[in-house]
Amino acid sequence: MRVVRSVVLGCGSYLPEKALTNSDLAQMVDTSDEWIVQRTGISQRHIAAEGQTTSDLGYNAAKAALDDAGIDASSLDLIILATATPDNTFPATSVSIQHRLGMSHGAAFDVHAVCSGFVYAMTTADAYIKAGLAKRVLVIGAETFSRILDWEDRTTCVLFGDGAGAVVLEAQEGEGTVDDRGILTCKLRSDGCHQKKLYVDGGPSSTQTVGHLRMEGREVFKHAVGMISDVVDDAFSETGLTADDLTWFVPHQANKRIIDSSAKKLGIDPQKVVCTVQKHGNTSAASVPLALTEARRDGRIKTGDLVMLEAMGGGFTWGSVLLRW
Ligand code: ACO
Repeated sequence: MRVVRSVVLGCGSYLPEKALTNSDLAQMVDTSDEWIVQRTGISQRHIAAEGQTTSDLGYNAAKAALDDAGIDASSLDLIILATATPDNTFPATSVSIQHRLGMSHGAAFDVHAVCSGFVYAMTTADAYIKAGLAKRVLVIGAETFSRILDWEDRTTCVLFGDGAGAVVLEAQEGEGTVDDRGILTCKLRSDGCHQKKLYVDGGPSSTQTVGHLRMEGREVFKHAVGMISDVVDDAFSETGLTADDLTWFVPHQANKRIIDSSAKKLGIDPQKVVCTVQKHGNTSAASVPLALTEARRDGRIKTGDLVMLEAMGGGFTWGSVLLRW
């Protein structure tokens, strides 16, 4: 029986020009390069220029992904943007990107699952493709977290950065085995009882302001490794694959200690872990496609590789996507 899979045609990313180093931050708040590197693995992050918006970053990543895929936006039928930092409360930021890509056909919408946003958007795209509702989908993760940080709060402002990444998915038929290219399985979870551990203290309906990110860092850390391991193990159980079968593990880039502990718990060889958090900080929904694109561009990820994506973030939300590149 022929089975439809969502196959990656190409990927791309974009980072704002300005890099903010740990030493720069030490001039702004009471922190040090040593503290930040030791606790998080982060050395620098990129910050959007004044007036540069999430749609600007997302558009540039989208263009790069379309170029990599060798296709034109006219052949897309859906754009899904994962972001928690939209240009405006509405319309959806994806619609701005759709317009800038010269598209007036198809549909575009945003998904909001904070740091798990890209995994949620990939899962949604895969569902559209499998249901026969779309053939080519552009999935973007783009964020300007610098706009929702309290730059006087050293416990949060050192952790995050701005950026965007994108992937083009296409419906292709195969035998439906784990050796076929495309998304093999997606696992999503959320649990709203953890809302107050990581949230933004503003919004249109509550305060009529944008608000600032607030986090109980230790609490997030405490739950992260277990939640990540659960959804990765679920993906392995469903497919019959194991950590040894993976070619690459591309985790959400929040914190090197969370990444290392998750890989260790899952029995994944450290050589297989793609880590970019040192250069980008935590870019929320952009972090997985930024890491994917880096590993693809430098030749690590090749056609046929088995790649596990995972993320965990505000909500809490968490999820995994297992795919054959
Ligand atoms: N520089 C220097 N000192 C600091 C800083 C800083 N930037 N931030 C906090 N400290 C101090 C604290 O004030 C505290 O001082 P005290 O002992 O005098 O009270 C001390 O360092 C220890 O603080 P803790 O919060 O206990 O430090 P911890 O070891 O837990 O590390 C961290 C903090 C890095 C935030 C850690 O809890 C963590 O990584 N949590 C996960 C957070 C995360 O990754 N969130 C994002 C994931 S979800 C998503 O992506 C949206």
